[in-house]
Amino acid sequence: MSAAKLRRRAQRDTFGNSFGVLLALAGSAVGLGNLWRFPYLVGQNGGAAFIILYLIFVALLGIPLMLSEFIIGRRSRANARGAFRTLAPGTRWDLTGFIAVLCCTLILSFYSVVGGWGIEYFYKALRFDFTMGLTGDLSTLFSGFTASTWRPLVCHTLFMLATGLIVAYGVKNGIERFSKVMMPLLFIIMIGIAVRSLTLDGAGAGIDYLFRPDWSKVTSHTVLDALGQAFFSLSLGSGMVITYASYVKAEANITKICINTAVADTVFALIAGCAIMPAVFAFAISPGEGPGLVFITLPYIFSQLPLGGVIALLFFLALLLAALTSSISILEVVVAFAIEELKLKRKTAVWLCMSFIWLLGCLCSLSLGRFGSELSLFGRSLFDLFDAISANVLMPLNAMLVVIFLGWKMGRGVIADELTNNGANNPPAWYTKSLYIIIRWLAPAAILAIALFQWLG
Ligand code: PHE
Repeated sequence: MSAAKLRRRAQRDTFGNSFGVLLALAGSAVGLGNLWRFPYLVGQNGGAAFIILYLIFVALLGIPLMLSEFIIGRRSRANARGAFRTLAPGTRWDLTGFIAVLCCTLILSFYSVVGGWGIEYFYKALRFDFTMGLTGDLSTLFSGFTASTWRPLVCHTLFMLATGLIVAYGVKNGIERFSKVMMPLLFIIMIGIAVRSLTLDGAGAGIDYLFRPDWSKVTSHTVLDALGQAFFSLSLGSGMVITYASYVKAEANITKICINTAVADTVFALIAGCAIMPAVFAFAISPGEGPGLVFITLPYIFSQLPLGGVIALLFFLALLLAALTSSISILEVVVAFAIEELKLKRKTAVWLCMSFIWLLGCLCSLSLGRFGSELSLFGRSLFDLFDAISANVLMPLNAMLVVIFLGWKMGRGVIADELTNNGANNPPAWYTKSLYIIIRWLAPAAILAIALFQWLG
């Protein structure tokens, strides 16, 4: 390796310690996916049966896939594209990295718009709008707001600026420090809300719904939704784990980090379920309200609840924090690419990437309102289209290429090296062996089957 290359590598930022890595990874995983997407999918798919399928997918596919991305990132110590260039020089595997960067660009553009909605609702909660003075129907309020022109754009801009500011401070001083403070705070707030919800009269029906499976409600859609949610929630197939893992020190135990991240993410999803469903049942609202659950149903519940104003404030604060610790990880994928592949300084890279994604986000936001017909393609608004392309096409495609790359191109030796930290620790043989089989055979087959189902169905 040339001296210049060695120097550049030595200058790369790293996470401070394993706990910081865990909180940053969990911060990325825990986001709108847990607080907004998971509860409404549970509601639409009949409760406990969906949750059980989700848990199976997290354990059987999610964790091995996360480990695969981790291995690629830590071994190469490079951004999502550079990782493949380093591990398989002279091949076209680096396209996998381009897919990841494109995927994150699209995800962040609509994620930031939803984050902006979070800002608006937090502001409303600050003024105690939900418990006092709010007139009119909450559903019209929500659709009126999201379809308006300026307000959502201003909120999206604020959310994007906050994201960029944190990422500009770098991995250790920005991302790690922010996640270390915010994740415990988020945890405490969500536990508090869950306790309030669980102690409501009539909360029992909600708990039954969450934990007693009704298998008759399971359709092929439930299975697909559960798998898609497992991917989205663990941030898989987006290059995020590759990028973060590239900042992890060589002695970190990657099995432990990945399992802990998956457990933390799942615990958060379940806490969000416990915070929302018991209240939904206590107020006799249908749980299957869909994406509006958090922005329409919950504010209604807050308006009826004793101490509802304070709970609303805490809930939307939690939503914002969760969204921010995820959005910084999405931006970091694109920024790390710009720094290392386009040779830009971090600050320049952040400004450039942020501005471009901000612009796409503006188009997403406008596509939900006045410019709906101009800003739509194939009969979908740009907002929906970016969501669908990233979650249903680019993420599975990237995940598939990642496991094929690791299982077939890199092979068993590389996997064993990384799992054992080059022989320093000694996991049981069955573990390395079964992981290898999952990565080489099971995961690609499962992703392919599911993608085919989804695209053909
Ligand atoms: N996992 C995040 C969430 O649950 C979303 C995300 C997707 C983050 C892809 C990073 C990369 O909200």
